[in-house]
Amino acid sequence: MPTLEQARRWYAADDPVHGFDHVLRVYRMAERLARAEGADLETVLAAVLLHDAQDSRAGRGEQEAEKRGNHHLRSAEFAAEVLSAEGWPAERIAAVQHCIQAHRFRGDSTAPHTLEAQVLFDADKLDAIGAIGVVRALAFSISAGNPVYYPPSDRFLKTGEIQPGEAHSAYHEYLFKLVKLKDRLFTPAARSLAEQRHALMVAFFEGLAAEMES
Ligand SMILES: [Fe+2]
Ligand SMILES: [Fe+2]
Repeated sequence: MPTLEQARRWYAADDPVHGFDHVLRVYRMAERLARAEGADLETVLAAVLLHDAQDSRAGRGEQEAEKRGNHHLRSAEFAAEVLSAEGWPAERIAAVQHCIQAHRFRGDSTAPHTLEAQVLFDADKLDAIGAIGVVRALAFSISAGNPVYYPPSDRFLKTGEIQPGEAHSAYHEYLFKLVKLKDRLFTPAARSLAEQRHALMVAFFEGLAAEMES
């Protein structure tokens, strides 16, 4: 089993979005959900420690965004290297890899089809909403060189696609993804925790938009 100290070395200390503090929060949340739901703890925790270990950092430009878009696949490959060096059996490595591959489920990618994968997905998404989610969304926009607020175009509101010259702001990310997360969670334990976090996040982003437009 990889240790927390080992995992700390795989993450940037100064990344406010996918740094080790994100991993620590997901670790604590996943442990809580796994116990509540009866998931295999070792599989879940190994997957948490490795899930964003490769290419998850937000960088500027399309190439960086593309790299980030595959971080779940690269991290799953890295997990296999780490766990096979530790002597884990193939089927347990595959179970961890499935959790990592499915943590970025967006409708067109691998869906989490084991309880362990659903626990990682839910714990990771709970860290994307609420007060922490707001902080991370703002930090992500700023490190990608985008504003925190830009008026969304009609086209974006209808299709989720920005028009030429429109910045993908933190508010866009809220409309496009964050506001939908609570209804995409799998486990009852995560769904009940999500309600309060969701309400806080909605109040912040709608307040931000109202102030910006006033
Ligand atoms: Fe991730
Ligand atoms: Fe993550």
